[in-house]
Amino acid sequence: MDFKKQVVDALVKVLPDEITEEQVTKLIEKPKTSDLGDYAFPTFILAKSLHKNPKVIAEELVGQINTDGFEKVVNTGAYINFFLDKKAFSEDVIKEVLDQKDNYGNDNLGKGRNVPIDMSSPNIAKPMSMGHLRSTVIGNSIANIIKKLNYQPVKINHLGDWGTQFGKLIVGYKLWGSVEEVEADPINNLLKYYVRFHKEAEEKPELDDEARAWFKRMEDGDEEALALWTWFKELSLKEFQTIYDRLGVEFDHFTGESFYNDKMDAIVKTLEDKNLLEESRGAEIVDLSQYDLSPALIKKTDGATLYITRDLAAAKYRKDTFDFVKSLYVVGSEQAEHFTKLKIVLKKMGYDWADDIVYIPFGLITTGGKKLSTRKGNVILLEDVLNDAVKLAKKQIEEKNPNLKNKDAVAEAVGVGAVVFHDLKNDRRDSFDFNLEEVVRFEGETGPYVQYTNARALSILRKADVDYSDADSFAVTDIEAWDTLKMLADFPNVVQRAANSYEPSVIAKYVLKLAKSFNQYYAHSRILNDDEGLKARLALVKSVSTVLQMSLALLGVKAPEEM
Ligand code: ARG
Repeated sequence: MDFKKQVVDALVKVLPDEITEEQVTKLIEKPKTSDLGDYAFPTFILAKSLHKNPKVIAEELVGQINTDGFEKVVNTGAYINFFLDKKAFSEDVIKEVLDQKDNYGNDNLGKGRNVPIDMSSPNIAKPMSMGHLRSTVIGNSIANIIKKLNYQPVKINHLGDWGTQFGKLIVGYKLWGSVEEVEADPINNLLKYYVRFHKEAEEKPELDDEARAWFKRMEDGDEEALALWTWFKELSLKEFQTIYDRLGVEFDHFTGESFYNDKMDAIVKTLEDKNLLEESRGAEIVDLSQYDLSPALIKKTDGATLYITRDLAAAKYRKDTFDFVKSLYVVGSEQAEHFTKLKIVLKKMGYDWADDIVYIPFGLITTGGKKLSTRKGNVILLEDVLNDAVKLAKKQIEEKNPNLKNKDAVAEAVGVGAVVFHDLKNDRRDSFDFNLEEVVRFEGETGPYVQYTNARALSILRKADVDYSDADSFAVTDIEAWDTLKMLADFPNVVQRAANSYEPSVIAKYVLKLAKSFNQYYAHSRILNDDEGLKARLALVKSVSTVLQMSLALLGVKAPEEM
């Protein structure tokens, strides 16, 4: 049932005709605490047209409102406060969650249309950074969320597997590397050559020329260059895959930058045909000065293509292949200008669908206030972070529940889940400092807290061991349950809000609040008391657990049954 609509209907009947249903819907507020009612209507806006004091208007209107179906309707100051019928409301929401299970909150807004999501996209031969972790988990969660609304997410890993850096890597490897060393610890050793290359090139600029030449050989299809590149790529992908496995993230396509090598001529040709290309000191550019932007570099002096050239080809390819309604790019906020340029150039090329490209930026993760960089070699390795988190989780499980079965599997789910949850709970644009102890705490605003709450709900159900599905009534009317019930009813709206803003934190914040309100309910009522309300209360516990699990799943966090 739509309870807000019930309030709107009751109001429309007594309000002056010129106020539309739509206006009323917009004006209705939700009081901060339930003791002020569940919905409130401010009468200020009527003061002018009715030439009356808003308080007086509230008083008068309350007398006229039909209170059928409400617990009560009262006026406090210049507000009319509606208290919903708790019995009808709880019956309604619990039944709906129990019936629909994992489909609760689903909608057909997307009508099955494709939404490519450019996500993760680490660079070959470098360790995956915390930034790539953010892109991976934010992208994955957005995919889960929009899928609930029947959009078809297409998860694309736009690997950084092309560009001058591979020329540098080849030079470095040839000078200082060996097959044995690379095979032993691929990414770390490749990174070592890369870091050393940068150090030495400061004094020997001829190294840079060599690197450029090697990349040119790659672009020209030179066998030796490509064999080395393929080898670096395969080794890197293998390491990335272990992280994706731990995170439980799958991709539909691993089409990296190199995938567009044979698709760039067509882009350059269109740019030429539309008279968009200009020569500037030997390079080919699209001038963007009218937008106060530096030019988009399409081709270097030696003919080598650039990052944006490949992104132009990728954008077009995605439109042609997936006929998307929206095309998402989950990439750190430091690349904002790149995506602004990308969209402008596509628009200039005559592609109006550029408007459907959505750049989804996110903030930086620091440790101890410092930015992390792979160039200088002071990297914090994602794998170490995950391993440390799992260790910490294991320690806490050991203390809390020493007899737990599958301790290692649970610790993995809790440790990894903690890192993922932490990454998603803040507005994605915010930058934050990463502190492991804080992330893995079982209390407070953490993933483990939500997981623990779900495990508690499941343990209540196990302990009761009662079939509640045949309850005469699912009415839970004790006031302690009220906030929890309202939160359950709000879940479908929360999913849509998260989808509209491409913001997993909306789900994370919601599930923290739901967990908190349920824990309060648990602390203040005897759920397992053997009275006539038992089955309804258990049904509520089941509903809470269903929505907690679904929310965690939307975030890409596992929900262990016991912990
Ligand atoms: N590989 C890039 C980096 O690590 C991110 C790629 C983002 N996706 C894109 N289509 N440009 O910075």
